[in-house]
Parts: sequence; C-alpha cells; structure tokens
Amino acid sequence: MAELGHDVVGIDVDAAKVASLSRGVAPFHEPGFDELLARNVESGRLRFSTDFADLAHAQVHFIGVGTPQVQGGYAADLTYVNSAVASLLPHLNHHVDGPTLVVGKSTVPVGTAATIAETIAPTGALLVWNPEFLREGFAVQDTISPDRIVYGLPKDPESAGTAQGVLDDVYKQLIAAEIPRLTTDYATAELVKVAANSFLATKISFINAMAELCEATGADVTQLAEAIGHDDRIGKKFLRAGIGFGGGCLPKDIRAFMARAGELGVDQALTFLREVDSINDRRRDHVVNTARDGLGGTFEGKKVAVLGAAFKPDSDDMRNSPALDIAARISGEGATVVITDPAAGPKLRAARPTTHVADDAYTAAAGADVVLLLTEWKQFKELDPTRLKDAVNNPWIIDGRNALDPTTWRDAGWTYTGIGRP
Ligand code: UGA
Repeated sequence: MAELGHDVVGIDVDAAKVASLSRGVAPFHEPGFDELLARNVESGRLRFSTDFADLAHAQVHFIGVGTPQVQGGYAADLTYVNSAVASLLPHLNHHVDGPTLVVGKSTVPVGTAATIAETIAPTGALLVWNPEFLREGFAVQDTISPDRIVYGLPKDPESAGTAQGVLDDVYKQLIAAEIPRLTTDYATAELVKVAANSFLATKISFINAMAELCEATGADVTQLAEAIGHDDRIGKKFLRAGIGFGGGCLPKDIRAFMARAGELGVDQALTFLREVDSINDRRRDHVVNTARDGLGGTFEGKKVAVLGAAFKPDSDDMRNSPALDIAARISGEGATVVITDPAAGPKLRAARPTTHVADDAYTAAAGADVVLLLTEWKQFKELDPTRLKDAVNNPWIIDGRNALDPTTWRDAGWTYTGIGRP
C-alpha cells in the first residue's frame, strides 16, 4: 500500500515484530521484500505501531490477522479477527476525509463478514470483504499485480456504491491497469477465497493420487501431468506431484471449510475435501515408508539428511511443513536426522536447539544413509551429485519434489527414487 503511494500505519500487538519492521527488517523471508520495506519506512509513508490510537485518523482499515486452525478441531479460530475488530471499534469515528472503511482480508468462515458489519454499523463505518490471494514468497508481486480483485459489498446499494468508491481509490493503479474487479455480496466474497484454495488443494491431491497409480504401474507422473496439462481446461500449474501441500493456508483452509459446511448442514458437499486431505497425508507416509524399507526395515542407528524445512521454497515458513513432519517422524523412529534449509535453517536452529541443523546440503549429508530432498530450493536443484556422493555413507536420494534429473543422478552413481516416476 505504501509502495502504491498511500500513507500507511501497520498495527500489531507483537512489540518485537513492530520494532523489527520499524527498523526496516521483515520478520519473515521474501525475496526482494527487505529493500521495499526499507525504502518505504525511510520515505515516511510506512510506520508501525502497537498503539491502536495511531490509526484514529486513517480512512481505510485493513484487517489481515491470522485465522489458524483451532486446537483439537477443524474450525478456524476467529480470536484474532474478533480482537482486531474490538480494538478498532473505538477509533472508527474520528477521521474527517469522508466515509470510513473497514476492509476484511483475513480468510474467514462464510458469515463472519455479516457479523462484523453489524458490529461496526453504529460507528457509521462500512465493511468491504476483500479476500487476499497472495502466495508467500510472491506477496508484493501478487498484491501489486493480482489476477483479480474481489469486493464483497454491503447489501444497501448506496452504502455499496460509497464503499466501492473509497476502495477503488485505494486501488486506483490496479483498476487503471484493468485488473479484473468483481463486486459481490459478503458471503460470495468469503466463499471465493476458500473455494479457490480448495480447488488448488484438490489439484495437488489429484496429481498425487495419480502418482500412487504411477507407482503401482511403473508409469511417470511428471509426463502424465505435462500431457494432461496441455489441455487448457486442465492447465499445467499446480500439478507437481510430491510430498503434498503444507503451510499456513491450504491445509487449515480446507479443514475450516469442511467444519463450516457441517455447521451449515451441507457437509456432504465437501466430503471430497476429506479425501483431498488424506491423499495429502498419505504422501508423507509414503516417503517415510520408502526410506524405512530401503534401510532394511528400521531407522534405528541410521543417519538421514533432510534437505528443506520450509513448506515451500523462497519462504522460511515452517507452519504445517511436510518436510519437517517427515523429518520428525523419522527422528521419532530412532534415526539421526540432520536438516538444512537456506532460509528456515537459522529459524529452526533458534526454535529447536536440540534439532541438528546444518549450514548446507554437503554438511547435512556427511555420513548419511539416505538423503531426502523435501523442499525444492534452487540451491538443492543445483547440487553437485559427485561432491554430495563423496560426503554420504550410501548414495541414495529420495526426491520428494521430483526436482532433480534422475538420469544425471544415476549417472553419477546414485540410487534415485522420485515420487510417482521410475
Ligand atoms: C496459497 C495459495 O496459493 C494462495 O493463492 C493463497 O492466497 C494463500 O495460500 C493463502 O490462502 O493465503 P501459499 O500457502 O503461499 O499460497 O503456497 P502455495 O504456493 O499455494 O503452495 C502450497 C503448498 O502446496 C506448498 O507446500 C507447495 O509445496 C505445495 N504444492 C504446490 C505442491 O505440492 N504441488 C504443486 O503443484 C503446487
């Protein structure tokens, strides 16, 4: 928003995060983001604070807090959203430039926006539900140049027109660039978000189910994905078979969606998502079982190198990371596991001092009985198989992301095991 020329105050209850952001240092890894942050902090267009009073004069209030999975259940935890709304409420009627807008970006169960709109109505502020579609690692690019913008607007046409006008002004460069902008009611906007993530998760589980078929028949899922992807109706993206989806969004969003469908009495509509979730879990089991079988039926006394801790490359986010889950299961079965990750490594070392974290793949692989590539970082795709072979005890690599060229690795003397390909 600051990069688009707006005057922005970022509020967070976490004082350490606010202090770090105020120094121009992001508390997460995203290529190119630190420069953009520093530039905007320096220009004075972007400030951070823990004090809600600092946003009293703002006209537009974005809510972008997390909605994690509740402990012990599937539903979304709305504590942070509700607390943000409650903290915002006393400050909503102070500004002078025109109508005040609250803009919801958090991923919420359908029906939440209507409740928030009611809560803020006495202040005269209007609510727009404006779901966020950015990918971690591409947050800036996806914000400045999104595929589409969705506005969930109030029912009353006059309020809807006013709210749309204010938000159009905020996004004026995007509107001028003719990025598709769809206006809907609140429920549709909320559903667009979870429907999109459910579709993406389904696509990944579909190709992972095909990987199971390929493994049973000796077929190659990478060729299969390419061949079906040539059909525009299917498309090539999000058809990479591997150890499945993780992160802070897809897994918890499909679960919260199923929980909400249950509350609405339409749980049958989403039972297929249960299958999407279990196909996803099975891929993690598959890697653990393949490694154990190949090591003679037990991990006891074995050394395993794990390349990757983040849930995907170009991110240091380890929330619901398939790589970390697999590493933890193998370590729980008695192996000595050494993990390396270009961005998440230092964070992992600080968070879990007893976990063995190496600085690079060659160090992690020293003496290993098997190497698992679980996050497809560029650094791992570019590894030198000959140099890595000199480091290990047994040259066997399980490529959990089909990121390497099997022929190159086999020619260098490795036993190569991919996902759903010979
Ligand atoms: C996802 C969506 O892609 C965004 O559009 C959405 O805005 C975001 O969630 C959100 O709800 O906030 P993100 O969690 O950053 O974005 O990650 P993705 O790039 O979608 O990847 C998710 C997982 O799927 C990763 O673990 C990745 O390794 C895995 N994946 C992705 C595959 O296993 N195969 C693929 O073909 C693609």
